[in-house]
Amino acid sequence: MELRDRVAIVTGGATGAGWSIVLRLVDEGVAVVVADVADVAGEAAVAAISERGGSGSFVRTDVRVDGDVEHMITFAEERHGGVDILVNNAGGWGPTANYPYASPLQWSSTLDLNLRAPMLATQLVLEPMRRRGGGAVVNVSSTGGLGFAPYESPEYGAAKAGLIRFTTSLAYAREDTGVRVNCVVPDWIATERAMGELAAMTPEARAAEPPLVDPDELADAVVELVRDESLAGRVLLLPRGEPRRFLG
Ligand SMILES: NC(=O)c1ccc[n+]([C@@H]2O[C@H](COP(=O)([O-])OP(=O)(O)OC[C@H]3O[C@@H](n4cnc5c(N)ncnc54)[C@H](O)[C@@H]3O)[C@@H](O)[C@H]2O)c1
Repeated sequence: MELRDRVAIVTGGATGAGWSIVLRLVDEGVAVVVADVADVAGEAAVAAISERGGSGSFVRTDVRVDGDVEHMITFAEERHGGVDILVNNAGGWGPTANYPYASPLQWSSTLDLNLRAPMLATQLVLEPMRRRGGGAVVNVSSTGGLGFAPYESPEYGAAKAGLIRFTTSLAYAREDTGVRVNCVVPDWIATERAMGELAAMTPEARAAEPPLVDPDELADAVVELVRDESLAGRVLLLPRGEPRRFLG
């Protein structure tokens, strides 16, 4: 896909790894809708995009709320004339207890954020993208969704694993709608929060850690998945200290 003058929605794009994806798309000439729960950061993101000479807007969106997800897509169509790219980036788990110590309400909220929301947003963009001759969806999973070792947040691991299988299952959407759905699977990303957690480690523990995934590497991977028309239903792993590679 030629990126210039396309329209993208990036969920959770106001800060963290999503912000790096936003900036990279803006630099490629894409108009970006930042869809995030954080109002102040969202407005600041729009100002920063404009200072950079790019085009962007903010729509307050809690991706766990169906009406917000519907509004996010309508907003992009009304403000920018359509949607070509959707990056389902919003994700994570809260500061509360994890399954099985969390209440069903708490752990199902993590499932909603990391799995149900990307599924709903993808479902709702298929038709608008088909009308424009196709599009690209990139789901941001996590290495927490891979492997066979115990994991601190089973609900997050399960949701991110589900997001990978959701992506590969939907490979056929390209034939039906012209929409290519792909997925990135980053290991620990060097966001501000991660840098803080690293700084809090003992020097020995820190020295034993492989280098974190640079947010720009994540942004590069997203752009590659959007741009390369041959990719649909593919899963791109971003390990720490090793080159990225496709799984499957
Ligand atoms: N940080 C990591 O090391 C890491 C590693 C692997 C995968 N990931 C995945 O990468 C993505 C981005 O991670 P991050 O660390 O930048 O996340 P983050 O926790 O820093 O949040 C990023 C943004 O998402 C927004 N957000 C949170 N809940 C939202 C909601 N319900 N609706 C809309 N926006 C919401 C936040 O306001 C914030 O701007 C997530 O899907 C995460 O699971 C992160």
